Amino acid sequence: MSKTPLSFTIFLSLTLFFFPSITASSITDRYLYGGCTQQKYTPNSPYESNLNSMLTSLVNSATYLSYNNFTMVGGSQQDVIYGLYQCRGDLSMPDCATCVARAVTKAGDMCRGSCGGAVQLDGCYVKYDNATFLGVEDKVVVLKQCGPSVGYNPEGMGSRDAVLGGLAGSGGPFREGGSGVVRGVAQCMGDLSYGECQDCLSEAIAKLKSDCGTADYGDMFLGKCYARYSIGGAHQASKAHGKSGKGGERTFAMVIGILAGVAILIIFLAFLSKICGRQGK
Ligand SMILES: *[C@@H]1O[C@H](CO)[C@@H](O)[C@H](O)[C@H]1NC(C)=O
Ligand SMILES: *[C@@H]1O[C@H](CO)[C@@H](O)[C@H](O)[C@H]1NC(C)=O
Repeated sequence: MSKTPLSFTIFLSLTLFFFPSITASSITDRYLYGGCTQQKYTPNSPYESNLNSMLTSLVNSATYLSYNNFTMVGGSQQDVIYGLYQCRGDLSMPDCATCVARAVTKAGDMCRGSCGGAVQLDGCYVKYDNATFLGVEDKVVVLKQCGPSVGYNPEGMGSRDAVLGGLAGSGGPFREGGSGVVRGVAQCMGDLSYGECQDCLSEAIAKLKSDCGTADYGDMFLGKCYARYSIGGAHQASKAHGKSGKGGERTFAMVIGILAGVAILIIFLAFLSKICGRQGK
């Protein structure tokens, strides 16, 4: 009589064991945007070795700081390279380091031979270039995404606007807020001053409201800051059917998890029927 519920409990705990660890790491690694400079450097030049030390420094630093900037000087003045990374303020240090390592790998692959590159993943941002951009405010829209409209719902839109207002009003480079089913998050790059961060986020938030209207989620990434919101976990849903390579990996991992669960379930049932058979004699 208790055979089914017990095996089901085991199956459920197995699948729960396999799923969360997989989704937690892949969400922060999701690729959002990136770009490379047109200019190329000369292979095996001092610039290339500066670039390599830059990428190594970014990855190493992310194991203990959520923001840092570097200037690599080596060779002559034209070999100077500038770089920074910024992890989302709520990431733990190991997650920050993993994210920056992924972003650096992505930029390296995507921008092979280019003087500069930038990559934004869900959990972190990296940028390097031979023209300095450190400490320079940049409000150019680099990525705008709006979810499907949920229609005009005064209550939902009211909370959305209240959450965004809260983000605009609070201080610091990382801000998050929520009300009911609405979640909001905002982040400035660590090289902006308090005033520049405030100015950049005010603009991102105003654009988010005007451009995304009644969408169930919105992302507004400017050069040096971003603001995002979602209603009822809309982002989570959009992540699940993302068409990046990561999605495929995640599906594969889930299939393996389910197969492992089913295999253990069968072994367990076989074992159970053996015991029951013996007791029956
Ligand atoms: C960056 O490097 C490229 C190629 O070497 C060069 O043409 C450009 O002038 C450099 N920019 C700066 C700001 O040094
Ligand atoms: C770059 O990093 C140095 C310390 O490593 C810091 O003193 C400086 O303020 C930083 N510059 C910017 C623009 O964040």
